[in-house]
Amino acid sequence: MMRPIDHKKRRDDLIKAEKLGRLDDALGRTILRMHHMGELDHELAEELDARVLKLEDDLAFDRIDPFTRPVGFDSGDAIGLDSASNPVLVSDELLATHTLLPGASGSGKSHLLLGLLRPKMLADGGLWAGELYKKELRHAALHANRRGASVAIVTRDTLRVNALQLDGVDRGLAETVAADNFCRSFSIGGRGRAIVSAGIHALNEKFLGRGLSPCPVDLWVWVKAAEGLNAQARAAVLDRMTAQFVACGVEPFCWRRGWPALDLKRRKIVFELGGFPEPTKKLVIGSLLMSAMYASIHAGPAGRGGHGGRLLVAFDDALRLLAQDESGDLTPLAELASLVRSLRIQLFFPVQSVSGIPLSLRANLSNIICGRLATSEDLNIIASDMSLPPQARKWVASHLGRGTFLARFGEASDRRPFVLRVPYTPLPPITDACELQHAKSLLDDLPTVLADEYRGWSPYEKAVVAEAAKPAEHGIGAAELALLKAVIANPGLPSGAYAKLAGIGGVRARRFRKDLVGRGYLREHSVATSARGGRPSIILEPLDSAHKAVTSAKERGDA
Ligand SMILES: Nc1ncnc2c1ncn2[C@@H]1O[C@H](COP(=O)(O)OP(=O)(O)O)[C@@H](O)[C@H]1O
Ligand SMILES: [Mg+2]
Repeated sequence: MMRPIDHKKRRDDLIKAEKLGRLDDALGRTILRMHHMGELDHELAEELDARVLKLEDDLAFDRIDPFTRPVGFDSGDAIGLDSASNPVLVSDELLATHTLLPGASGSGKSHLLLGLLRPKMLADGGLWAGELYKKELRHAALHANRRGASVAIVTRDTLRVNALQLDGVDRGLAETVAADNFCRSFSIGGRGRAIVSAGIHALNEKFLGRGLSPCPVDLWVWVKAAEGLNAQARAAVLDRMTAQFVACGVEPFCWRRGWPALDLKRRKIVFELGGFPEPTKKLVIGSLLMSAMYASIHAGPAGRGGHGGRLLVAFDDALRLLAQDESGDLTPLAELASLVRSLRIQLFFPVQSVSGIPLSLRANLSNIICGRLATSEDLNIIASDMSLPPQARKWVASHLGRGTFLARFGEASDRRPFVLRVPYTPLPPITDACELQHAKSLLDDLPTVLADEYRGWSPYEKAVVAEAAKPAEHGIGAAELALLKAVIANPGLPSGAYAKLAGIGGVRARRFRKDLVGRGYLREHSVATSARGGRPSIILEPLDSAHKAVTSAKERGDA
């Protein structure tokens, strides 16, 4: 006797088999057709059962992933391969909804980013790719330049951005936006904000008529001289700025006319911000993005149209730019993400973790390309953002590895998550110093004005400066090297913070610090932190010999 047909089970089987590509051949399509016509005979039904059994086995034994293959990713640039090794192409329209690329260190994020950037560097449109710590993107830049592109490389020493300048908007708005970015980046709150705003406003009176904008050093000098204002708030503002000036020298803060945003927006640029302390990185990036945004608004819909109006902005390891700061304010970048879409600015952010990135921001980064995650907290957040069912979540927890990602594009016609594999294609090493030099000079044609009077200027008036002695001849030990590395990697912190970062005890660290100052590796600046003459903070400035010592240790392989 024949068993009665379980119609529900058969329907579920068909859906499952079809979704996971088990009915893609001629016989499979016949099974589907006959089912729809209500004429699935015994033999075909048995074939279906066999296929579903095999599928379930494959799933149970992890021979396949539980995701469907993506449909419709057939125009644009390839970012990787699907599970059947077909290229996955992503169009500009899809990138316009912004992308978050979370993954633990070593999951292959930077490699995927390089893959995305390579064709973009050769295509039309603006491109700003930035790194906060490393120098990997320059490889892609030089590789593209060898093929006729012109991708500029900007480093700490060549950056010419005036964070107090905002082109193309009316003065009131420019002042508000600049003051806001400045205070948020440097964690200036309360009365300090009022002082910064007043300073920018007063200085603009003086400079705008000459076609210039005040630079941050002008602001420092104005605040210093404004003795009528609240002394404590003034001291706090000055100190925040002084710490940045010490950590990276005053030159980056002396541009009365920085690169014009409208020109930058059309260029392809790699920003290496590794040499700057965190607050200055935030200031520079906030200022660049605000400028890009207002330049786009200024250009109007006509100016934004076509490929020429597009700007892809990608900052690697961008967590600190996106995570909420202590004050609970959104970062300028986070706020921008909610605005820039209609302006043809595409944001792309690889991050090591998503914890700390507010939901309101994640909601505006609607493409997710997820790599191997380091914590279950991240997994929970991503699984819920991507609406993954339990089985899929389990697969993600154990199967994503170097170069294997789970991707979902928020406004694709197929919005289901799919497995994306990125083949490994290393870039050739940089061997020619001239190529690098050329890339660094590509923005030199843009008009800029430096405030000459600040050459050799220093913000310490009453500060005690322990002068550098002659650089050392004899070598330095591992612990001292660790201390130097900590100072270079985290500029601008109070001196006490480095012991922990270098993993040495406070007393030893103090002794090493004195020794390194005496031997010309570090310079100490003592900065008053309160108006009432409380204990001053000591800020350490790494000197040339410190950079050299760390670099040569790296080359020897000790670091
Ligand atoms: N798609 C890939 N396939 C195989 N190995 C890869 C792939 N992407 C990166 N790697 C290797 O893994 C290492 C880490 O990759 P990287 O892109 O720097 O990761 P992340 O930026 O996530 O820390 C690289 O040194 C590279 O050799
Ligand atoms: Mg990386």
